[in-house]
Amino acid sequence: MKRTDYCGRIDRRYLDQTITVMGWVHRRRDHGGVIFVDLRDREGLVQVVFDPDRAESFGLAEKLRHEYCIAVEGLVRPRPEGTVNPNLVSGEIEVLAHSIEIFNASPTPPFQLDDENLSETVRLAHRVMDLRRPAMQQNLMLRYRAAMSARRFLDAQGFIDIETPVLYKSTPEGAREFLVPSRIHHGQFYALPQSPQLFKQMLMMAGFDRYYQIVKCFRDEDLRADRQPEFTQIDVETSFLDELEIRQMMEGLVRTMFRDALGIELPDPFPIMSFADAMRHYGSDKPDLRIPLKLTELTDLMQGVDFKVFRTAADLPNGRVAALRVPGGGAMTRKEIDDCAPFVAVYGAKGLAWIKVNDASKPNEEGLQSPIVKFLAPDTLRAILERSGATSGDLLFFVADRAKVVNDALGALRARIGQQRGLVEAGWRPLWVVDFPMFEQDDATGAWAARHHPFTAPKNGHEALLATDRANALAKAYDVVLNGWEIGGGSVRIHRPEVQARVFEALGISVEDQQKKFGFLLDALRYGAPPHGGIAFGLDRIVTLMCSAESIRDVIAFPKTQRGQDLLVEAPAPVTEQQLRDLHIRVRPSDAVKAAGT
Ligand code: AMO
Ligand code: AMP
Repeated sequence: MKRTDYCGRIDRRYLDQTITVMGWVHRRRDHGGVIFVDLRDREGLVQVVFDPDRAESFGLAEKLRHEYCIAVEGLVRPRPEGTVNPNLVSGEIEVLAHSIEIFNASPTPPFQLDDENLSETVRLAHRVMDLRRPAMQQNLMLRYRAAMSARRFLDAQGFIDIETPVLYKSTPEGAREFLVPSRIHHGQFYALPQSPQLFKQMLMMAGFDRYYQIVKCFRDEDLRADRQPEFTQIDVETSFLDELEIRQMMEGLVRTMFRDALGIELPDPFPIMSFADAMRHYGSDKPDLRIPLKLTELTDLMQGVDFKVFRTAADLPNGRVAALRVPGGGAMTRKEIDDCAPFVAVYGAKGLAWIKVNDASKPNEEGLQSPIVKFLAPDTLRAILERSGATSGDLLFFVADRAKVVNDALGALRARIGQQRGLVEAGWRPLWVVDFPMFEQDDATGAWAARHHPFTAPKNGHEALLATDRANALAKAYDVVLNGWEIGGGSVRIHRPEVQARVFEALGISVEDQQKKFGFLLDALRYGAPPHGGIAFGLDRIVTLMCSAESIRDVIAFPKTQRGQDLLVEAPAPVTEQQLRDLHIRVRPSDAVKAAGT
């Protein structure tokens, strides 16, 4: 038999024609005498009818069970009145089977493909069957369309796809790396790249002008719903464009992908917000703009007040006091309010103060219900209501602490309350976040690190700050945020060796270490490096948003679990003693084994 078309594409056009379809038995119903089979392939379902008049095919049809792989030749005819299914492309027709071939039988699958409540462990352990589910087929086909759209866009703009090494070397920046031992070089290791960052910069220095790659990156981080240890970037770099030109071109890429893959028009242009404003108003550098809640700044107001918790934080050099107004939040029960305290505690908040505004015209203990009103002067209370715009029936939450804690806690609370109270507006809200700080300081160790990566150029006029005022030096770095997800990030790079050396210096990397770790880059920079910059998008995240999936695991064919395992092939796994020997490696006994052995 030769296939005529996909099951899911057989419609009225084929009426009265004899066709051949191939696929899997999705459902089989025996209606006493007549057998109905929903035959499935990647494009969808078609209903096949087996009539007892055709004894041979009917006999085979009686044997069919879920997930048998078969071919059917038959006549396309209209479905009887009343049985039309408007939800299917093939919903107006059915195929009257003439002959059937069974390619392969199947034992009963480990789960029903249309079961909505499967545990992820079961799904990942039986991933081949899981991937047969129509939702997964659609997700992966959408992923392909999105990636193809990106390729077409970049190709049309003159970007060329150049492959970069996967066996790279360990560099001190960023996430923890996956190491690969060298057999030939005793005791030496490759590292898998966290991104092709330095290779794409060197391709610019080599004169390729515009590069892209849809490329796997590897990071040995703690995993979450939006993170995988190996994930895919749409990685882009260009020479001779400035920050604004790069951003404009790259938002064109995102708009094109959404248009091609989903038929959705994203806003043009994307709004732009500074990092400082994002933190001030949303407590986050990836605010979900679909949630119409903003933080209220109270730090200046709380300097010198009697309430010690607020005053102490307000007086800290890096302290902050801020409020989150929940419109209509006065209706929240005491339990709902109290449940928010442990939620913010995870972010380090030592408490969560609140005020219920029962009557905004009485900004005192009469109109305001709260454990902290008694500590605050009437003028202060009035100012809080004014600044936050709180009216009767609202609730205000307060956190006072180091700015980082306040932002993390209230930023997360904003998102949670937005979701819990059904405040998330429909639609797509992209955003550029720009003017990031060059550096950030580790709270515990006091060490300075690059906020994006150490190859990012400082803003014009901020070069001098590298040596004098690290904390306030801003970078030509930008992130693209969509509905609260960071879907991409990039920067204009440093193209002068002396500036690169000063950034390494600001990061406390000695001249000797600079040469050892990045000598190849510093050398390449010396030979007429062009001004250049770029961005990388998280393809998995973009497609997850496009599919409204809950986790990026639903748009990756063979993902890892939260614990970094592949349950299908059972990786990671031990290797033989001989393999270890060849690699000059001896596995240390784990602490538990050591303890048991002593
Ligand atoms: P960055 O580290 O911001 O930049 O990564 C770019 C984008 O990749 C996605 N992403 C991830 N997706 C899934 N799982 C992960 N573990 C993960 N980590 C990152 C995010 C992120 O925005 N070389 C720079 C880019 C540049 O400067 O051009 C880089 O890698 O969507
Ligand atoms: P206390 O005087 O410590 O009992 O605190 C009074 C109120 O302030 C309680 O509702 C606490 O939850 C709240 N609170 C304590 N510490 C903080 C803080 N750092 N930020 C916001 N509220 C706090």
